[in-house]
Amino acid sequence: MLAQTFWLPEQVSTIAPEIDRAFYFVHWTSVIIFIGIIITMSLFVYKYRRRTPDDRPTLVEPSTVLEVSWIAIPVVLVLIIFNWGFQGFIKLATPPPDAYQINVTARMWLWEFEYPNGVRSTGELHVPVDRPVRLQMSSEDVIHSFFVPAFRVKQDVLPNRYSSVWFEATKAGEYQAYCTEYCGTQHSNMLASVIVHEREDFDEWLQSGGGMEDLPLAELGARVFQQQACQACHTTDGGPSVGPTLQGLYGSTRQFTDGTSAVADENYLRESILDPGAKIVQGFQNLMPPSYTGLSEREVNGLIEFIREHQ
Ligand code: CUA
Repeated sequence: MLAQTFWLPEQVSTIAPEIDRAFYFVHWTSVIIFIGIIITMSLFVYKYRRRTPDDRPTLVEPSTVLEVSWIAIPVVLVLIIFNWGFQGFIKLATPPPDAYQINVTARMWLWEFEYPNGVRSTGELHVPVDRPVRLQMSSEDVIHSFFVPAFRVKQDVLPNRYSSVWFEATKAGEYQAYCTEYCGTQHSNMLASVIVHEREDFDEWLQSGGGMEDLPLAELGARVFQQQACQACHTTDGGPSVGPTLQGLYGSTRQFTDGTSAVADENYLRESILDPGAKIVQGFQNLMPPSYTGLSEREVNGLIEFIREHQ
């Protein structure tokens, strides 16, 4: 159907065509009723216009046929839409029992995904094609919402409890996921790519530890820097921001708010990543969340190597 590609994004999940059909049913019914009302209204305005100053309308007798029809037709329409919507709701709420489960953690302002074999990815959700996937989601801070327009699925992600959403992607490729619940200054940048792999490619990706294992350290660091949204507070070109810039950081002497100082070597950088409140550089505040303890040893090494490259 031409309209589906015109108004809405490509359909890439098994549920998408069904949702679009319901959407277009509501849409076109509304358009038809709207046009019908406007045409009838215009005709009546013309036909029953006041012709002379002493023109008086005749008494209108109630018509049973009319009254029954304007009650019955909308009731039938509403029931059709309710039934349609309810069936879709049930389907979306009931993942197939063999669904592949991925855990999702949302926090200001990134998405983290953990796969059954322990592999993790940030900012990138990798899924196999033609297989139902269930996301079990929770938030570390405020309410977020996970939305993949191409799959037509959207679900709130809450702190202190799990919510879930499932889909079966029908075509390999890269699609966009959004946060659709306002969650603070970087809300609009809280994005993730959904990468749908062919079956074998997905297995290979999982085996290789999420494709991060064979990356050189500095490249791994650049990936982690981007995935963890470090650029929200740290520039790499010397520009001012909430936190210190990475440029010229390595090897420089840092003055701290408590009057002490230290040279920014590997151990200092490591401490500043894993325990950011330990030493606060003069001119900055203790704002970095102490939530990076989940980084692997290799990821921390990568970040340090990345920082070293910006001296
Ligand atoms: Cu997270 Cu908006």
